[in-house]
Amino acid sequence: MSTPEETAPYGTGPAKPAAALPAKRVRTHHLREMKERGEKFSMLTAYEQYAAATFDEAGIEVLLVGDSASNNVYGNETSLPVTVDELLPLTRAVSRSVRRSLVVGDLPFGSYQASAEQAYLTAVRFMKEGGAHCVKLEGGVEMAPQIRKLTQGGIPVMAHIGFTPQSEHTLGGYRVQGRGETGSRVLEDALAVEEAGAFAVVMEMVPGDIAGQITQKLVIPTIGIGAGPDCDGQVLVWQDAFGLRQGKMARFVKQYADVHAVLLQAARDYDADVKAGTFPGPDHTF
Ligand code: KIV
Repeated sequence: MSTPEETAPYGTGPAKPAAALPAKRVRTHHLREMKERGEKFSMLTAYEQYAAATFDEAGIEVLLVGDSASNNVYGNETSLPVTVDELLPLTRAVSRSVRRSLVVGDLPFGSYQASAEQAYLTAVRFMKEGGAHCVKLEGGVEMAPQIRKLTQGGIPVMAHIGFTPQSEHTLGGYRVQGRGETGSRVLEDALAVEEAGAFAVVMEMVPGDIAGQITQKLVIPTIGIGAGPDCDGQVLVWQDAFGLRQGKMARFVKQYADVHAVLLQAARDYDADVKAGTFPGPDHTF
């Protein structure tokens, strides 16, 4: 008769909840209150349960299931190809795995730009099927009707202005926004999304002094990525910041770890053990 195993054979079931932190959920109003107190907050991307649970345990206030999953999960060159149906299961995995972090579902290209109604129907799927606590969409002045419709319909919206990756072909590639002829545009966009009801705004690749001025003008929190130190919060793509992705990084990325090197070494050690016949040894054999 076989003895029952003590633990599940693979990584089944939700990740262990973090014991260290109280499970009080971060809500959109907490970010606003942090801004008012002059406290900074952090946001990272997350696309699956173990990274999400780890970042939640670390105290990261906001987790974004970004459309950057297109590049970082699905292997596309840009964020344009990823679909709602591809992002929903990732959003569900992240929202099931956190106790505290605010989970943001990112509306992908083509799923909200056509009309406020289209945006609402897509956002509802992220809330109902993905378990997101709010959604993010890209665009400023032109997205005000979408932001208004969602917020009036009970869906908190994080806006995203400056360099917006879904519009890279319109913007002419990865370019800093807010200099020269785009100078006043970023401020107009920031004021428009706040007025339309967004609870926070991501500013991507905006000069630090402009981002700082906008942060002072807005009541809602700003979240910078390549927008200098004066934003209320900061966001990075975790595979860039923790070194899972290799290759050229944007200047605004700081690398905090070399996860690729750790994984590579572990895989090589395992491979060597298997080929030498030293794994599994007696400790790993029934
Ligand atoms: O999808 C994403 O990862 C993002 C961040 C870069 C803000 O939008």
